[in-house]
Amino acid sequence: MSTPVKMNLEAGKKYYYCTCSKSADGVLCDGAHKGTDFIPSIFTVEESKDYYLCRCKKSKNAPFCDGSHTVN
Ligand code: FES
Repeated sequence: MSTPVKMNLEAGKKYYYCTCSKSADGVLCDGAHKGTDFIPSIFTVEESKDYYLCRCKKSKNAPFCDGSHTVN
């Protein structure tokens, strides 16, 4: 099971969410998608605070965890 990663995100800053599952932390793009058809998903947040980011890639509210990692 891939649990979410708690990350402090800054309001207005661009983040690149990994969609290929190959990045080292499984959450933010680190370029490991090169050679695949995947591209990162750009997102921002409106409030600077801690967020739980999806690593299982099942969330319907990606990049944020919606609890789907607990469903079999
Ligand atoms: S490393 Fe996964 S999308 Fe870039």
